[in-house]
This record gives sequence, structure tokens and C-alpha cells, in this order.
Amino acid sequence: MQNLKKVLSTSIATLSLTLIGTTSITSANESNSNVSTQQHATTPSNQKDNNSHNPNRAQNLTGEKYTTVAHRGASGYAPEHTFYSYDKSHNAMGASYIEIDLQMTKDGHLVAMHDETVDRTTNGTGRVDSYTLKELKQLDAGSKFNAANPQYANSNYVGAEIPTLDEILERYGTNANYYIETKSPDVYPGMEEAVLKTLNNHNMLNEQSLNQGHVLLQSFSPESLNKLHQLNSNVPLIRLLDKGELRSLTQQDFDQIRQYAIGVGPEYTDLTKQNVKNLKRAGLLVHPFTVNNEADMHRLNQYGVDGVFTNYPDLYKQVILDDEQKNK
Ligand code: G3P
Ligand code: CA
Repeated sequence: MQNLKKVLSTSIATLSLTLIGTTSITSANESNSNVSTQQHATTPSNQKDNNSHNPNRAQNLTGEKYTTVAHRGASGYAPEHTFYSYDKSHNAMGASYIEIDLQMTKDGHLVAMHDETVDRTTNGTGRVDSYTLKELKQLDAGSKFNAANPQYANSNYVGAEIPTLDEILERYGTNANYYIETKSPDVYPGMEEAVLKTLNNHNMLNEQSLNQGHVLLQSFSPESLNKLHQLNSNVPLIRLLDKGELRSLTQQDFDQIRQYAIGVGPEYTDLTKQNVKNLKRAGLLVHPFTVNNEADMHRLNQYGVDGVFTNYPDLYKQVILDDEQKNK
């Protein structure tokens, strides 16, 4: 009996030491970016790492090591927030996410539009919320792109319509991924409820869809994100950070953001290898915007970001392939 007790206590002691050892290795990896880079280097085909060594490290819900967020669609090649730029990014280029900025019409429809006014991207003038949906649909959201980008101009773009969120979800369905921003939420009371209702109508808020990352909601407004979190805590959120904001945030701030969001979208020139590491240590995904230059894409991947917003999704997808080849 005495012998049995001794064997048992020796086994328990060995097991405890093994577990402590595992924890120590995890900590060492967390504080050593070179080790982290080597681990990524062995990951094939843009799939996530075997992350058993660090369960707190955030990973893209799509399973990708790097996710490609088509900023306003493939807006470098076609008019932003039209079916032309979305078709290009989703159908032709296979970008991971269609990024959508939302504004609201006078009669309460959610439409894909970056600015609060229609002047920059259409032939109209004035605020989006001064138009009914029917009036907004008369505007031409393609011709200004043609004039500004003669190398990519296409006569099909003339008269392009501003799409509603409803129409976008209808067109691309439940297999596409949507990275949706509540723009100017203070101007549009009820925007958060309307977004969730529309997503729910299109069966995008079920457990499987959310777990696979089909929907990410993003905002610069912590109030809007907190409201979304209160309305439905299952929907993954991304906190956008204005240029310069990241540098003023502490590790404690990162932990606080992690209470409601799974990641952050910083302005890309604010990122350093060290602050990416700090964000990852807080368990946050890092998706910088808006990265259109190949050298910046390579550099940010090296820092350990989880993907980028870009107007040129094909360029970033090529960078991902190149980085994987280099690291083989
Ligand atoms: O949503 C990320 C990025 O798009 C933020 O910048 O101004 O293009 O919406 P903005
Ligand atoms: Ca945006």
C-alpha cells in the first residue's frame, strides 16, 4: 500500500512538472517573435497554424493564416461599393471578405456607401439620408470611377446602382463572407438593430455561419460595437482604430477591447512588429487598413498580422503565396 502511494505521488509530481513545462514553453513562444515566425513558415496553403501551443492566440475564423478583405470590393479596379467591385473581388479574385460600409436612406434602408454624402462617388449631391432608396437608385455610381481611372474604365460601369445590404446578401448568399462597418452610427439611430435584422433575415447569424467567420461587424465607434455586443454577443466584432490611435493605447486597453471584440483594424502605418505582438498577446486579431502596396503587404505579414484590407485583393493573394514559398 505504501509502495502504491509512493508510485501514485511520483506520477502526479511528474505530470505536474510536465504541465508546468508546457506552460513555460508557451510563454517562451509568446515572447519570442522569431519562434512564432518559424512556426508560421511551416504552415501550408494559407491555413491556420496548429495552435495547440498557444490557445489564446487569435486566429481568423475562416481558418486562413492571412485573410484578404476586399476594401469596398476590389475598388482599385472597379467603382467602390457596386456589384462590379464586389463581383471582381468575390467571383474573379476569390477574396476572403467583401468589405461593406453602411449608410442609411431617408426611408430607413441600409445601403453600401462610404461617405455620408453622395458627391464623391456619384453624379448626385447631398446627404445619403436626404434621399429615399428610390431616389438614390437613380444615381450613377460608376461614371466618376471611369473618369478618375481611365486605365480601368468600362462602359458597363456607367449608371451602376448603389446596392442595399439586402441586395448584397441576396446576390452573394451564405457562402460569401461579409466584413460590415456601421458608419456614422450616431447619425443613424437604430442602425445596429437594422443590420442584425437584415443579417438574420438572410440566415447569416446561425451558429455555423458565425463560427466560420461569414460575418464580421466593424466600427470606429466603441458605442456602436458595445450596442451590437449587447444585442447579440455571438456576432464577432472588430474595433477599428483611427490613424494615431493605436500608439496611445496600453496593454490594458487592448485587454478591454478584447472584452467585446475579437480583433482590431488599425491604420497600417501605425503598426510595428512590437505593437502587433502586443495586440496578439491580448488575443486580438490584427487586420490593418488600407494596404495597397506590395512591399507594405510583405512587411505587415512579417509583423504577424492576420490579413489586410486592400483595394487590390489579387495583389495581396499573390503576396501571401510568395511569402509562403519563401518560408518553405
Ligand atoms: O473598415 C476598415 C477601413 O475601411 C476603414 O477605413 O474609411 O475606408 O472605412 P474606411
Ligand atoms: Ca470601412
